[in-house]
Amino acid sequence: MTTMASTAMILMVAMITTTLFSGSTRGMQVGYYDQQCPHVERTVKEIVEGLLLKDVTAGASLLRLVFHDCQVKACDASILLVDDPRNGVLSELHSPKNFGIRRLNFINIIKEQIERRCPGVVSCADIIVLAARDIVRSSGGPTIPVLTGRKDSKQAYKELADVIVPPADTTVDELLQIFTSKGMTIEETVALLGSHTLGVSHCKSFYNRLEPQLDKSMSPALAEDLKLLCHGQKVVTNATNLLAAFNDRTNLVFDNQYFSDLAAGRGLLAVDANLASDPRTSQIVLRFSASEREFFNAYVTAFLKLTQAAVLSDHDDAEVRTNCSAINQY
Ligand code: HEM
Ligand SMILES: *[C@@H]1O[C@H](CO)[C@@H](O)[C@H](O)[C@H]1NC(C)=O
Ligand SMILES: *[C@@H]1O[C@H](CO)[C@@H](O)[C@H](O)[C@H]1NC(C)=O
Repeated sequence: MTTMASTAMILMVAMITTTLFSGSTRGMQVGYYDQQCPHVERTVKEIVEGLLLKDVTAGASLLRLVFHDCQVKACDASILLVDDPRNGVLSELHSPKNFGIRRLNFINIIKEQIERRCPGVVSCADIIVLAARDIVRSSGGPTIPVLTGRKDSKQAYKELADVIVPPADTTVDELLQIFTSKGMTIEETVALLGSHTLGVSHCKSFYNRLEPQLDKSMSPALAEDLKLLCHGQKVVTNATNLLAAFNDRTNLVFDNQYFSDLAAGRGLLAVDANLASDPRTSQIVLRFSASEREFFNAYVTAFLKLTQAAVLSDHDDAEVRTNCSAINQY
């Protein structure tokens, strides 16, 4: 595609999505920082690409981060706050649901560089979303015309994270409840789970599919491999258990392999495998495994809905943090 054609397409998608969500965009727009901090999106992209060279597995962790941030209240960077008893902040990372999240320092590195150019302008919530968008694209996935202009929370919600971040064995009913409440179709919900085309899961996240009873929907070959990998790891549930399996067979590439794997009984987590067996979602799995374009199209709108739901604006008790780890001190 020529640059002009692709720019035109991005503009068109941007217009459609802005229209689609008008009334609920809460002051956000594509290119919100164009005046106050020109080139911020290009800067984030360049830093992200540089950081991925240092640790290519960080991309998956930071894509998961956007979900775990947005799922608790909204995309408000509450997940980045560290313990601060004086201000009543208990880090969300204490929640077992956030097990495996790593490389948060990459977000801080991006923030520090942006603060040097445009102090106090760009929110941490937006940086999380922009970084995830860039990870998807630089791993081979679609270009997502994200809106910016989110504000950061002044508190963290550890207890809420405990209950509201879904567990590995989430059913299709629960899944549809979570994501249709953010305005997604079933197709978009399935596409969003396609985020598991990247990264890894630790043994504790899928071991209960192997023992005491083998989950019959799992391919016997995969089950054998996983038992070998995780042998003896059942009881270790803290961060010392670093054994992990690939989420799909091409786990550094954002492609539709995840859906082909699901169709072949090679879903790793129960939530993944459920998509292939439930009649509401199994046909969509097959369609996405046959057409990467259809997967990507649905993924783009799903990602926009995930990252736009209920965000904080100027009208809320919110701020642009200067340090993503702590609320501003005045
Ligand atoms: C109900 C929905 C979901 C459930 C139950 C779920 C559950 C999980 C679990 C249990 C893991 C493995 C954690 C570990 O063992 O280290 C994981 C990994 C991951 N999840 Fe999800 N997830 C869901 C939705 C999403 C969404 C919406 C995204 C992105 C927008 C996402 C992105 C990822 C990524 C990229 C990884 C790999 C992380 C890494 O390599 O460190 N997930 N997910
Ligand atoms: C993790 O669990 C193991 C086994 O139960 C224990 O020996 C170890 O001290 C724990 N580590 C942490 C950091 O809690
Ligand atoms: C940001 O805040 C954290 C937590 O208070 C602190 O440890 C860190 O040094 C701060 N970073 C900068 C660049 O000031």
